[in-house]
This record gives sequence, C-alpha cells and structure tokens, in this order.
Amino acid sequence: MKIIGISSSPRGKNSSTLKLLDAALAGAARAGAEVEKIDVAKLNLKYCTACNSCHETGVCSIKDDYQPVIEKLLAADGIILSSPNYITNVTAQLKTLFDRCPRVIHEQLFDGKYGFSLTTAGSGEIDFVLDIMNNFMAHCGGNFTGGVGCSMAEGPSAMAAAIEKSQGMGKDLVEAIKEKRQYPEQEAAHEAWRGQFKYVILANKEHWPHNCDYWTEKGWI
Ligand SMILES: Cc1cc2nc3c(=O)[nH]c(=O)nc-3n(C[C@H](O)[C@H](O)[C@H](O)COP(=O)(O)O)c2cc1C
Repeated sequence: MKIIGISSSPRGKNSSTLKLLDAALAGAARAGAEVEKIDVAKLNLKYCTACNSCHETGVCSIKDDYQPVIEKLLAADGIILSSPNYITNVTAQLKTLFDRCPRVIHEQLFDGKYGFSLTTAGSGEIDFVLDIMNNFMAHCGGNFTGGVGCSMAEGPSAMAAAIEKSQGMGKDLVEAIKEKRQYPEQEAAHEAWRGQFKYVILANKEHWPHNCDYWTEKGWI
C-alpha cells in the first residue's frame, strides 16, 4: 500500500504544517504503508493554460514536473494533502497543482482512493482550509477520512496535540484503505456529480474525446 503526502509550504523544513504531515506519514508507515513525501513548493509547476489538451488526448501539454507527480498520485492508494492557511485558502503552490488536474476531476481518477488534509494557521479558519483540500479530493472522485489543523496562536501544547492527532489519522488512513471503508454520503455525492456532469461530457464530446471515451468505457454514459 502506497501513501503520498503533499507538502506545499514555501518554508521547507521550517514549515509547521510539515510537522503535521511528517507525523501523519510516520503513523501510516508504522501501520504498514509505504510512504513518500512530495514538496510541491520545490517543483517546477506552471499554471494551467486551459488548452484542453488533457480532455482531448489525456495528456497535459505543459512539460514540467506535473507528469511525474500525477503519475505518483494515480499509483497511490492514499493521498494526504497539506497546506498552511494563506489568505483563508491553500498556498498558491498547492492551488497550482489542483488547477493542473481538470482531467483527474473529469475522469474521476481518484475513484477508490482515500485521503485526508492537514493545515496550520496563524489565527484560524482551519476548517475552511481543510474543506478546500478535502473538496478537491472529493471532486477527483476520492473519499476523505477527515482533517487535522492547528492555530499557531494556541501555542505549543495545541501543536503537540495536532501532531499526535495527525499520527493517528495516518494510521486510520491505512485502516480505511485496507477495509475499503464506506462513506455513503460521499459515495452519494460522487454519484450525483456524475449524474449531472454526464450532460457536460455529452455537450463537449467533440472537444473532449478522451474524457468522452473514458466515460463510455466506464459505462457512465
Ligand atoms: C502569505 C501568507 C498568508 C497568510 N494568511 C493567513 C490567513 O489568512 N489566516 C491565518 O490564520 N494565517 C495566515 N497566515 C499564517 C500562516 O498560515 C501560519 O503562519 C502557518 O502556520 C504557516 O505554516 P508553515 O510554517 O507550514 O508555512 C499567512 C501567512 C502567509 C505567509
């Protein structure tokens, strides 16, 4: 079982959010998963240019570090997303990765994967930022198991508690993957999304042949 953790703070090894991610990955490793960390802030990731190549051909037209990253994510069983709160959002580095993933969303390529999210903030809006990352996971067809965040204003004891909780979430992610845990509400949301998005795929079948072929293969249209 492979679990990938995404780090996205530009502060590198000084990142507080990275402490949560390291704890989560240690928890997952202790529970038996093979783990790998990817720091998107250190990668050459360009902005999506909305060229539609991924929908037409299945391949992104931009030649940078995106392809190896997405291949790793698609091969993983579990994905842990992490970002500090930047203006009540994720960092631009993580958003840039999200924006490069329209095909992952259109083709629901995280179907069968599980993940969760981690954040730290100077003051708050923890749940808002966790929701942004978990919503991305859900939009890509995956299920999320929860999230952990910490306001740095709450001091070292809050951070210690968040580190411990992150470790537990890493272990729990391994269990969710092993038992193929069911999340009926999330499954219903995936089904509802496919129910309405099929009309978008059909309306664009001449522009998005790769998406359309994929949906046909899956029996979704
Ligand atoms: C550009 C920038 C924007 C930020 N915006 C917010 C914010 O909107 N709300 C907040 O509570 N903290 C905000 N912070 C504080 C960080 O979220 C906080 O310091 C976080 O713990 C940094 O995590 P890191 O050490 O992993 O980079 C911001 C920090 C920076 C540099």
